[in-house]
Amino acid sequence: MKLKAGIIGLGNIGSLFDEDPKRKAVWSHAGAYLASHKVEIIAGADTDSNRLDKFSRRCPHAGLYQDYREMLSDNRLDIVSICTPTASHFKIFSRATSSDIKAVFCEKPIAARVEDARRMVAASRTKNIILAVNHTRRWDPRYLRVKEYIDQGRIGEVRSITGNYSDKVFMVGTHLVDTIRLYGGDIDWVVGEGSNLDSDDPGISGLLSFKNGARGFIIDNGKRENLIFEIDVLGAQGRVRIIDNGYHTEFLHFEKSDRFSGYRELKRQPLKKLKTGKSPLAAAIGNIIECIEKGGEPACTGEDGLKALETTAALCKSARNNNQKIRL
Ligand SMILES: NC(=O)c1ccc[n+]([C@@H]2O[C@H](COP(=O)([O-])OP(=O)(O)OC[C@H]3O[C@@H](n4cnc5c(N)ncnc54)[C@H](O)[C@@H]3O)[C@@H](O)[C@H]2O)c1
Repeated sequence: MKLKAGIIGLGNIGSLFDEDPKRKAVWSHAGAYLASHKVEIIAGADTDSNRLDKFSRRCPHAGLYQDYREMLSDNRLDIVSICTPTASHFKIFSRATSSDIKAVFCEKPIAARVEDARRMVAASRTKNIILAVNHTRRWDPRYLRVKEYIDQGRIGEVRSITGNYSDKVFMVGTHLVDTIRLYGGDIDWVVGEGSNLDSDDPGISGLLSFKNGARGFIIDNGKRENLIFEIDVLGAQGRVRIIDNGYHTEFLHFEKSDRFSGYRELKRQPLKKLKTGKSPLAAAIGNIIECIEKGGEPACTGEDGLKALETTAALCKSARNNNQKIRL
């Protein structure tokens, strides 16, 4: 029998991103569930009736609700997607996990407040409900290939990880912080600086010191419309970097220099071919289903979502407190 899913919040990431003619793969929760033969969407909730109308054209058999609480009480759901604005994630998660569900797929950032995120993680563990957070790159083969190169020691011991993003540290920067953590491990302390610091979601740049001694940097490059998301990992033996918003990866190795005696320089190496397949979001749904069926942890757990949020909140706190060094 198919698992039953319900989506709360039917905006961009809930469903509408798939209407963008320029996006070629599945980019929304609805699209990802529809791409799986192991799950069916039986309900959707949104306070906005226009969004419900659009969703019903995509999922004509799903129950439609303006009040997500009714959706949760009327249906026996296995997976609940939370795709509403971040400030509402905690409240909706608390309600959803009071019913008999198996998994929550929560949008990032996991919550607006670190304390709420901690409660969500604790509740998911106590109630034995899978909590996956949609830091999508953890299911993206392009970013996973970079991780594989690092883990296989192809660039040697990691010395620095530099990431560029554009604007809004909670909305976008949390993705970058999460990916940098995926590559560099846990973070010990941070120093932040930024612009627009009175805003709820400022642009923040900063230094992140990893527990293993490596250094991380995140750089906010301003305007959101100038889409940029790049990560450059430098190690003792080489470099791997992902540019062009994930669509281009380079691998370089330190080799004896032809230009300077006694030195090595970075030389471009061939890259292992990518295994292409499902879109990262479809892969995420597949991963959650596998965790339900066989046990195990999703590639991006509640703890990962919490750590991305804690680190981002610490960077903001530092930026607002004269670049104070903040330990995590
Ligand atoms: N993982 C990603 O790459 C990614 C991309 C975009 C957005 N997001 C995250 O997804 C979340 C939503 O962002 P979005 O861009 O889709 O926003 P959006 O505004 O396009 O959609 C949110 C929807 O939630 C509905 N909503 C609000 N409160 C509700 C409630 N109490 N009950 C039911 N519906 C409610 C709104 O009417 C709206 O349709 C945010 O947390 C954002 O950070 C993640």
